Amino acid sequence: MNRPPRPHADVDAILFDEAAIARRVEEIAAAVNAAQDGRELTVVGVLTGACAFTADLIRRLDMPMLLDFIAVSSYGQSTTTSGVVRLNKDLDIPLEGRDVLVVEDIVDTGLTLQYLRENLLARRPRSLRIAVLLDKRSRRQVEVPVDYIGFEIPDVFVVGYGIDYAGRYRNLPYVATLKPEVYS
Ligand code: PRP
Repeated sequence: MNRPPRPHADVDAILFDEAAIARRVEEIAAAVNAAQDGRELTVVGVLTGACAFTADLIRRLDMPMLLDFIAVSSYGQSTTTSGVVRLNKDLDIPLEGRDVLVVEDIVDTGLTLQYLRENLLARRPRSLRIAVLLDKRSRRQVEVPVDYIGFEIPDVFVVGYGIDYAGRYRNLPYVATLKPEVYS
């Protein structure tokens, strides 16, 4: 299970290493377990960025659990977000009457989570809570209630632990910034 000691050549700085992430995931799982108190939970992972967080979190949950995934993307061509979110892959299971936990990798403007929250609440779950690994608080355009936050981060571009740049780096086991030359 030993990892190579050196980070990926494109990495500038590691913000959260494997051990730090594992500790925080453990804490979030403990909070979810306490809140849920043995009642069944339906976990909704948001593709693709939340793949690693979802996989690690669910293995620390101790109640009966259903798992499904949803995929959304910001609609529009510009880098500044349009606020319009498109549903690319819907859930397979109905949420009505269920306790739902949405698992997301990062909240930035909040527009994606706002869309998801409204979309999922319309399905009449018994409860809906949101867990986010990374919170870019300073970028928020709309307020969305987030129940569990892994780490707050400044307005820096990060990759790893599921999060990509141009589709790559999702497999890095830590959260890191990239060297500036990687973008140019
Ligand atoms: C990222 C992230 C969130 C969203 C957050 O998704 O996973 O879903 O952006 O941004 P917001 O708060 O400004 O809406 P991305 O579009 O990069 O897709 P991915 O998860 O497939 O990488």
